[in-house]
Amino acid sequence: MSTTPVITVDGPGGVGKGTVCRIVAQRLGWHMLDSGALYRLVALAAQRHGLRWDNEPALVPLAGHLDVQFSSDISGNEARVLLEGEDVTDAIRTEECGAGASQVAVLPGVRAALLDRQHAFRELPGLVADGRDMGTVVFADAPLKIFLTADAEERARRRFKQLKEKGIGVNFAALLEEIAARDARDSQRNAAALKPATDAVIVDTSTLSIEQVVEQVLTLCRERLMVRC
Ligand code: C5P
Repeated sequence: MSTTPVITVDGPGGVGKGTVCRIVAQRLGWHMLDSGALYRLVALAAQRHGLRWDNEPALVPLAGHLDVQFSSDISGNEARVLLEGEDVTDAIRTEECGAGASQVAVLPGVRAALLDRQHAFRELPGLVADGRDMGTVVFADAPLKIFLTADAEERARRRFKQLKEKGIGVNFAALLEEIAARDARDSQRNAAALKPATDAVIVDTSTLSIEQVVEQVLTLCRERLMVRC
């Protein structure tokens, strides 16, 4: 078992995990794993290879041999993501790719095929791991586990704002419906369903700013991991 520290941050889509993890990783000078990006990459690669998102026998080897590079992880900037040498940073962020990701993520074989790749991110001085099953499955031995929540409407509002800032126009009602559908798929699936680890600290972010959530996480880091930040 690795002694390299890991902070797991799990929770539903649109809760702000990505932003919180990036800032926390930057403040600590630690690496970051965006595990959702891996599922999004499998969905995108499947689409490009003409494979359906439920074709488990074909998706398992695809996930296992995914040719992916994350260009930077410790600078604090959003890492560029390369798939088969091509920059797909924006392509994996579409709502369609998110929906595909949550479909391929239902398949136990795909989840298993991505495990080693996720474990490889655990490098010194430490890792902040963002996902759905970081604390329950992938890094079940993590010394600090956090589960972020917020009600679906608030998450839809945040996602709406985020997409608008990127110039991507979406319909709010459709976005809310998609978030609810994704929540249902993520929490009802048999493999690594979305739920807090029994030893996770649950933080409801509905009325908190990103800075307030970051501060709570950093306070837990100081108390539980004895790190200076
Ligand atoms: O976090 P993000 O929205 O990028 O994740 C996309 C989808 O990938 C999620 O809706 C979820 O179905 C899946 N996922 C997962 N396990 C993870 C991370 C993401 O099942 N650790």
